[in-house]
Amino acid sequence: MIFAANFKMNHTRKSTHEYIEALNEKLLAKHPDDKVYIFPPSTALDGYEGNFTIGAQNAYPAKNGAYTGEIGLEQLEEFDIGTILIGHSERRELLGESQEKVARKFSFFKEHGFEIIYCIGEPLHIREEGDEEVIEYLLAQFEGIDTSYEKLIVAYEPIWAIGTGRSATTEEISTTHEALKRTVQKPLLYGGSAKPANIKEIISIRGVDGVLVGSASLDAESFSKMVLS
Ligand code: 13P
Repeated sequence: MIFAANFKMNHTRKSTHEYIEALNEKLLAKHPDDKVYIFPPSTALDGYEGNFTIGAQNAYPAKNGAYTGEIGLEQLEEFDIGTILIGHSERRELLGESQEKVARKFSFFKEHGFEIIYCIGEPLHIREEGDEEVIEYLLAQFEGIDTSYEKLIVAYEPIWAIGTGRSATTEEISTTHEALKRTVQKPLLYGGSAKPANIKEIISIRGVDGVLVGSASLDAESFSKMVLS
């Protein structure tokens, strides 16, 4: 299983260091086949050591240059970062990243050999239209994306389940994952209100290869409970 913590715009450099120290101790008991990823904010990127992979939540698709406020390949390389989240719904919706921009970012980081956790997810009004509409919407988010890329991991995160405390149901997750896997044969994570209380149920669903966790990953104790579940 894959357990990925997306801190979003939470934690400082100091608190990330403390978190990782606390988590490292807990991860000694981790199953060797399970993989842990941590995506801290870019100000907290560093050369951490432990039984996990550190990734970037976002970066601009260029080595360096005149892109005010962004970080690029050069800044990631400083800390040996070779993993990145692309296509998160918060970047699509709040930061206005179009499918074209997302696809350009994907191609750039693919060219540079990054492991990519590529996020897709539907808004509530699409979910309410039914399974077929959901799949059609999700597959459109693969436009311009090389789904055969060997370092691709996909994360299905229904937007209405993110940060709401309301996870998708077992049936919604299994139906969607099964349908997605017919088209994209890559590890597939679920994200959206995954927490210690529902982790066992979620990771036992067929077609779920792991979880991408926001809120419940912010506390090292809570996240490690999920990893060790
Ligand atoms: P929550 O776990 O807070 O719902 O967030 C999920 C998410 O967006 C992870 O990328």
